[in-house]
Amino acid sequence: MTNKGFRKDFLWGGATAANQFEGAYNEDGKGLTIADISPGGKLRMPLLFSGDFPLEIDREKYIYPNHQGIDFYHRYKEDIALFAEMGFKTFRMSISWARIFPNGDDQEPNEAGLAFYDQVIDELLKYNIEPTITISHYETPLHLVKEYGGWKNKKLIAFFEKYARTILERYGKKVTYWMTFNEINTAIMGSFFTTAMRNATEADNFQALHNQFVASSLATKIAKEINPAIKMGCMSIYATMYAYDSNPGTVMAREEKNRLFNYFCNDLQVRGEYPSYALAYFENKGIEIEWTEEELAIIKAHTVDYLSFSYYMSTTVSIDPKHRDKQIQGNFFGGVKNPFLEVSEWGWEVDPVGLRLALCDLYGRYGVPLYISENGLGAIDTPDENFVINDDYRIDYLKRHMAEMKKAVVLDGVDLIAYTPWGCIDLVSASTGEMSKRYGFIYVDLDDQGNGDMSRHKKKSFDWYKEVIRTNGEEI
Ligand code: BG6
Repeated sequence: MTNKGFRKDFLWGGATAANQFEGAYNEDGKGLTIADISPGGKLRMPLLFSGDFPLEIDREKYIYPNHQGIDFYHRYKEDIALFAEMGFKTFRMSISWARIFPNGDDQEPNEAGLAFYDQVIDELLKYNIEPTITISHYETPLHLVKEYGGWKNKKLIAFFEKYARTILERYGKKVTYWMTFNEINTAIMGSFFTTAMRNATEADNFQALHNQFVASSLATKIAKEINPAIKMGCMSIYATMYAYDSNPGTVMAREEKNRLFNYFCNDLQVRGEYPSYALAYFENKGIEIEWTEEELAIIKAHTVDYLSFSYYMSTTVSIDPKHRDKQIQGNFFGGVKNPFLEVSEWGWEVDPVGLRLALCDLYGRYGVPLYISENGLGAIDTPDENFVINDDYRIDYLKRHMAEMKKAVVLDGVDLIAYTPWGCIDLVSASTGEMSKRYGFIYVDLDDQGNGDMSRHKKKSFDWYKEVIRTNGEEI
């Protein structure tokens, strides 16, 4: 294949989230967020989904690896220099809401928090790295949960609006690419990270989502008022969904699951309207969402400029009872084991062609530029005594996904603008709170028990990715 596919201004880079790598969880006036009280370890997801954990730090019972993260807060200069050495064109990061408004409902912002992001953004710009900022990545301020009950409360719309206005006013002249809510569609399954609610009903989850759609559109409106050149995006997980067999019942089950998970939030944020299948779903399930004409008009008027999504794996739907014991769990969702796919060490199915299918599907449906804001392989790296890490498995994973991206661009005509592999520097896993689940091109000397000096080391994939970027994807 030739290189004619990737745009000249293609944004190669890497992605992170404040709560998973900044550390300094209580420094310089930062308040606690939902991430700060989410227990680390393999039981994290079951706990978060059951709601059976305290809304406070309990060090007797739990560990909290996010508290120190990888200390980007103090080491950002060194880390950004490494990103620059790889030739990053963009760096996706999030702003921690509670660094800016420690409780979420404060009258005045915390200047120390704002100053920290001034420095990070300026450091990136020094190397001509375009920041891509996620406004909310799994860290609603804890006070908004305790006092207001999380995102089903409409008061959060105004708090978010104020937070978004504050950071857009501060950084909106320097930063072009923004995203509102990370993986917003995980709210459908009731993810605490997204909704900031425990033990919620399905109706609560949809109410929380509605409030976030309004908040997202208000942020888009404000962004354009501040700087019309800003590009605002939405962000969902996309899971390419297969019907296990050609039984029409299976295909229908896949259709129902697919539209709710892969389309619903994008339909709202790109097209600006509740789709008819969702209205029918609400009616049949007796779900009543509190919305006003004014809110619906805001959602309609302020849609996003581009669609971003994370892609790690596909999923397979079956209605055959004999598949009940062949379930496999992945990134917030599960399905039936696909016999054609291998799995990662964490049981996530690896499916590069699924990425091309995702790109074709989303571009065909929405026709807006696409941004792959996360992709990658969580794997155990074993450095030798000199910290040499030959992560060929990671290179192989990324190579195969990039090859499919390229086909989507060259053969399918998809307008793909960016690719930011997840965890470009090792960081704390969102689903398990582990350090040992590593995605990075840069190794961080830190284990699950917190041992290690946090020194940074280039893996083999570091030089490989640098070459990919240098040749704009010609050398994959
Ligand atoms: C996405 C999240 O779901 O997947 C990230 O946006 C997360 O925050 C990433 O870290 C990888 O998942 P995990 O569980 O392996 O860290």
